[in-house]
Amino acid sequence: MTPPVISTILELRKVLNARRSEGQRIGFVPTMGALHLGHASLMRAAAAESDLAVASIFVNPLQFAADEDLSDYPRDLETDAVVAAAHGVDLLFVPSVAEMFPAGAIQTEVRLARLGGKLEGAMRPTHFNGVATVVAKLLNIIGPCRAYFGEKDFQQLAIIRRMVGDLSVPAQIVGCPIIREPDGLAMSSRNMYLTPSEREAATVLRLALDAGESMVKGGASDPAAVIHAMSAVVKGEPLAQLDYATVIDPATFEIPANLDHDVRLLVAARVGRPRLIDNCGISTDKAPL
Ligand code: PAJ
Repeated sequence: MTPPVISTILELRKVLNARRSEGQRIGFVPTMGALHLGHASLMRAAAAESDLAVASIFVNPLQFAADEDLSDYPRDLETDAVVAAAHGVDLLFVPSVAEMFPAGAIQTEVRLARLGGKLEGAMRPTHFNGVATVVAKLLNIIGPCRAYFGEKDFQQLAIIRRMVGDLSVPAQIVGCPIIREPDGLAMSSRNMYLTPSEREAATVLRLALDAGESMVKGGASDPAAVIHAMSAVVKGEPLAQLDYATVIDPATFEIPANLDHDVRLLVAARVGRPRLIDNCGISTDKAPL
């Protein structure tokens, strides 16, 4: 059986308030659908750690730029409902654009001044405003909960944690590890756009992270050398176009002066039509996070 689908804010609030008044804890997984095993891992964590696991499916127009894939972003509610049911979701929230934005174009926006402009924010200038705004809105609709996000979108996770802290949103944010295909490609709804040869080439992101990780673990101390080596791996793949490969301090998102502390390696590249991102953490003791 697939979970009940609620499409209005009023109805969802009524159901969740009733459950909360019985002392139930809500786990929440926001998604844009086209569910895969990455989403499923978040759903399983939410189901395991709460009394009622709610997932939302909303392809958020605010986070797509005009030249991006909003209109043909994959949508398949029937299949998504089956996946959600199989991974412990009790309730699906699937609002329309009109339900989420009844007044049309919004006038109120959540913008992260510093964090929102770096890396993905520099490549996609309006993206994180759209993400932070819709996640703030979804968390307002859901109310007190634990909310689950993937480390796959590492900067998004950092932005949401920061937004929740800055605005005292009553949600506890839980980060979940990246789920990968057997050959190392991070699962993503956009992987379905890849042709077979591009699909093979797409493993270059993971290979670049592996190269960086073994340099850091091998004692490299110069971030520039690691960045250069990661970039070279992506540039060696003719079907990939590098956007960035970098090493950051996960606390500041700045390139660190040296590699003595925890670092995060991040890479972004276009492979054929989709733009793909991936990352990995390396802790101070030089073992993977
Ligand atoms: P979407 O891309 O559908 O992803 C929903 C959640 O699944 C995000 O928290 C994302 O990080 C996580 N996820 C995706 N691929 C994953 C993988 N391979 N392993 C682990 N987790 C993975 O991210 C969004 O939607 C939107 O920006 C959203 C937060 C819903 C706001 O619109």
